[in-house]
Amino acid sequence: MNSKDLRTVRVGVVGCGYWGPKLIRNLQGLPGSELYMVADLRADRLEHIQGLYPGVAVTTSYAELLDSSVEAIALATPVGSHYAMAREALLHDKHVLIEKPLTTNSQDAEELIRLAEQRRRVLMVGHTFEYNPAVDYVREFIAKGELGHVFYINSTRVNLGIFQKDINVIWDLAPHDISMLIYALGQRPTQVSARGAAYVQPHIEDVAWVTLGFPNGVMADIHVSWLDPCKIRRTTVVGSKKMLVYDDVEATEKIRVYDKGVDAPPYSDTLEQFRLSYRYGDITTPAISGQEPLEIECRHYLDCVRTGHTPRSDGRVGWQVVRVLEEAQQSLKNGGEVRLLSW
Ligand SMILES: NC(=O)c1ccc[n+]([C@@H]2O[C@H](COP(=O)([O-])OP(=O)(O)OC[C@H]3O[C@@H](n4cnc5c(N)ncnc54)[C@H](O)[C@@H]3O)[C@@H](O)[C@H]2O)c1
Repeated sequence: MNSKDLRTVRVGVVGCGYWGPKLIRNLQGLPGSELYMVADLRADRLEHIQGLYPGVAVTTSYAELLDSSVEAIALATPVGSHYAMAREALLHDKHVLIEKPLTTNSQDAEELIRLAEQRRRVLMVGHTFEYNPAVDYVREFIAKGELGHVFYINSTRVNLGIFQKDINVIWDLAPHDISMLIYALGQRPTQVSARGAAYVQPHIEDVAWVTLGFPNGVMADIHVSWLDPCKIRRTTVVGSKKMLVYDDVEATEKIRVYDKGVDAPPYSDTLEQFRLSYRYGDITTPAISGQEPLEIECRHYLDCVRTGHTPRSDGRVGWQVVRVLEEAQQSLKNGGEVRLLSW
């Protein structure tokens, strides 16, 4: 459809701390989107937004935004407020995009899913990596069998990060990796274990290792930390035919495919005959679209509002990630015990 034919959706953004302004920038610039009102408890943040976008109404009252003619909202408030604020919005018949993670527990997520269905509203979670062209490439590469059988995945997301006060590093950073893995593999994990430690703030883990087991035998290890000297956003996928590294910090060459591997001989009668053969082939860097994932996510949200289609990262996907986070949290508490997940 031509962009000038798009029905205009009137949008409101709630929360303009770190992430909200990025949603605001995208939503105010998209065809068929009218950024109408922004809400935050902090007057200084609202002043900042009005300085950037003078035409936008601002309010410190969420109730005022809910009573306005805004049709769709985007919630970028702290995780602990997601459930209550999204519930209010759905009860006011607003469509809702909620930042990750959807909620702090799976019961709340289920309740939001039920409510959105009842009110026939869009419920979407901001799993940004599901809208990342590089992740789409990895997903297709795996689906086409280019890597062979996927053996294992390692995902590292560390830097000297923003310490959160209400959630630990697993709830803050691992939603990205968990949603990306579920999306790229097309599978949900059935085993979860986690270990971590709280070094800076008491009882709030700032470094953690989460291991996921998938039904097809894939093991995925996720390392998240707010306490690391280097910013690393790197996912390695090791397959039987090829290996792939996705480095999100790289500006242009985000993905490298390594035609490397190890083959065992088909048969060997003696130890001397048993020789693994190593393959060292080309390293290729596919061209990946540089489109901003958040822009793709915002466009998708508005399309779903217009058409009533179910978003790629709908409430159910948000719930799945919250279920994995809950089990990881439980495992962390129990010293890394393996928790089973049935779906
Ligand atoms: N998708 C991503 O890559 C990504 C990245 C960072 C953060 N996030 C998510 O975005 C959300 C917000 O994170 P942040 O880092 O921007 O937090 P933040 O603390 O920087 O900002 C939150 C803002 O919400 C406001 N707020 C709190 N309660 C409110 C209320 N009742 N009404 C109106 N405003 C209220 C606060 O005043 C603050 O300005 C979190 O869910 C976080 O996980 C997503």
